[in-house]
Amino acid sequence: MNETDAYVMAEADASAISLGPIGVFDSGYGGLTILRELRKALPGYDYLYLGDNARAPYGSRSFEVIYRYTLEAVRELFKRGCPLVILACNTASAKALRTIQQKDLPGIDPTRRVLGVIRPTVEILDKVSKTGHIGVLGTPGTVASESYVIEATKLFPYMSVAQQACPLWVPIVENSEAEGDGADYFVKKYIDELMAKDPQIDTFVLGCTHYPLLIEKIRRYAPSGIRILEQGQLVAESLKDYLRRHPEMECRLGRNGEVEFLTSENPDKFDVLASLFTHQSVESSRCSLD
Ligand code: DGL
Repeated sequence: MNETDAYVMAEADASAISLGPIGVFDSGYGGLTILRELRKALPGYDYLYLGDNARAPYGSRSFEVIYRYTLEAVRELFKRGCPLVILACNTASAKALRTIQQKDLPGIDPTRRVLGVIRPTVEILDKVSKTGHIGVLGTPGTVASESYVIEATKLFPYMSVAQQACPLWVPIVENSEAEGDGADYFVKKYIDELMAKDPQIDTFVLGCTHYPLLIEKIRRYAPSGIRILEQGQLVAESLKDYLRRHPEMECRLGRNGEVEFLTSENPDKFDVLASLFTHQSVESSRCSLD
């Protein structure tokens, strides 16, 4: 064996054993509500969070733009060593996940995986709803994609799924106004509009990872007896199950319990608001996406 061959083999060995973090992506801060639950359910793993805060919110953007931005983020997380990326954003899951899985991943690296948050949420609907009437609260992009309606009725054809776009909820959260009095008006408005579409709704799906930050007000204005589904625990349980079923992926994940944060905006600004979501101090680094 000559020197070059030995070098190539050593490099191949190194890459075969290099372990990487679980990538968690959101347009901004919302995915931190998912990360929080992932860390509770799967504490030993390493995580790399990426918020595209410079270009958030995604909710009112076109399909093409959301797909392009999401793919850039996935490539960045792959470049930084993540074997697995969770799109912790309903808008990105609704508009970009399928195309990335089917069209892009085979060309980029067929051994890596990108998973979303919609399917794990929909899968448990039959266990929580008695009437089979579901109300989905989401961004305009998620609602327009009809992903929840399509996925839920595919699994449970008898279900009736009403949707309500809540275009102001993400800006309220991103601007630290979730606890302000102004938020009440828009929380009540969208809930009333949803219930007017179908008074038999007994389950709300918070179909946006930012909405858990508004949970107190959502509970206040939801009719009594409504079940409110937050996604964090559902996604975490689903990932746990996925890793159990896919040991070939599980063995590629780093297990030092480390968490790193990246943002496409100013890190100081990110750290302040991110700590509201994570309930602990956050120190992020800047990462440019394109
Ligand atoms: N957190 C994202 C979601 O779950 C939406 C935020 C945005 O509009 O960018 O849909």
